[in-house]
Amino acid sequence: MTAIPAVPVSIPELAAPSVWPVSAVSAPGGDVAVGGVPLTEIAERYGTPAYVLDEDEVRSRARAWLRALPDAEVVYAAKAFVCRAVVDWMEQEGLGLDVCSAGELELAAVRGFPAERIVLHGNAKSPEDLRTALRLGVGRIVIDSDCEIARLAAQVTGPGAQQVMVRVLPGIEAGAHAKIRTGAEGQKFGLSIADGDAEDAIARILGQPRLELTGLHSHLGSQISSPEPYAQNVRRVVAFMARIRERHGITLPELDLGGGFAVAYLPGDPAPLPAAYGRRINDELVRSCAEFDYPLPRLTVEPGRSIMAPAGIALYRVLAVKRTGGQVFVAVDGGMSDNPRPALYGARYTVRLVGRASAAPMRATTVVGRHCEAGDVLAEAVELPEDVRPGDVLAVPASGAYQVSMASGYNMTRRPPVVAVSGGRSRLLVRRETFDDHRSRDVGL
Ligand SMILES: Cc1ncc(COP(=O)(O)O)c(C=O)c1O
Repeated sequence: MTAIPAVPVSIPELAAPSVWPVSAVSAPGGDVAVGGVPLTEIAERYGTPAYVLDEDEVRSRARAWLRALPDAEVVYAAKAFVCRAVVDWMEQEGLGLDVCSAGELELAAVRGFPAERIVLHGNAKSPEDLRTALRLGVGRIVIDSDCEIARLAAQVTGPGAQQVMVRVLPGIEAGAHAKIRTGAEGQKFGLSIADGDAEDAIARILGQPRLELTGLHSHLGSQISSPEPYAQNVRRVVAFMARIRERHGITLPELDLGGGFAVAYLPGDPAPLPAAYGRRINDELVRSCAEFDYPLPRLTVEPGRSIMAPAGIALYRVLAVKRTGGQVFVAVDGGMSDNPRPALYGARYTVRLVGRASAAPMRATTVVGRHCEAGDVLAEAVELPEDVRPGDVLAVPASGAYQVSMASGYNMTRRPPVVAVSGGRSRLLVRRETFDDHRSRDVGL
């Protein structure tokens, strides 16, 4: 292991520390160390592309959410990224787990994650998802369509009723991109408050003795960089809860506001602290409940990206440099197969050369992947030294969420490993996919 200077050195070129984990420091030879481990050491030892996860950053972000809303349940959205170690970290920190498939449920079960702290989501839960959830005894299942109510009730064998929530659609536009706005009308998630669909579903659930309705759920979307949409959501949903009390005579004790809290991908991106979201949500909850004389419901939040994205760094090796059409393309050994976000949502990143100090002037560069698509662009117009060359290692911060978890096997490249760092040590959490993995699934001729 390479020795890291004991005193953290400020890294001017890491312009905004917020896009890097708190532990990021400069290391000898133009390197950056995270969790006390130089990134080039990881590239050498585990190969590239590789994903680095700063365990202490994940844990401290999870704790920040617990501190921000001390009376709430904090449920980590596993879709951001999950593996066995992450399940353990969340369990140890006292969070719950938001899952949306039998696969995620089984992973949690393998680690003995307390089933009562699990929330199952999904707009189209398969029979296997529901069966697995009931067998494992998950705490709450969030109903997202009318047709799953009777189906679920029929499968509950008791002795008690299954606790459920209803995912309501408040009709609020929030989130960084149309494809991740789930609080607005006209998309596939939730049951509309305005159309009466949510109330119909609630009435049906109340008619099912095997289901116990504990509250409402409402997830507005992702990369929501202001607490205001959450406050608006609280107002709408509390008003709706009061209406349900009036019409159906029930006071729902739980309110789940989902996730969607923004992180900084670029220096200067707005990314309020959990405490800022928490304060605004709490204030509005107290105010709205007072207005409707409604008892304060127990709150749940489901941060995913906010806990995981800033803790992750993607490492690539440069394979080719090309100047064409007035642009400089730096092609790396990963791409849209390990990070589909730029192609899906036009997501933007910063990129930094690591492991070599360069005095060359910086120039605008397009970092592209190795896949057979012109849209396989990882980062446009990023500043990199003019002398970037094949063999160099590039680091992309804020890569912990919705990258490895959305990775594909396009072009039969192998999905990258995930390496945890903490206290100057690295350890493999998820190994790189192998060609044998591919071949073992290809069973017919
Ligand atoms: C129901 C639900 N909760 C929580 C999340 C987590 O969102 P984020 O990772 O943006 O916090 C999602 C993301 O899709 C979601 O669908």
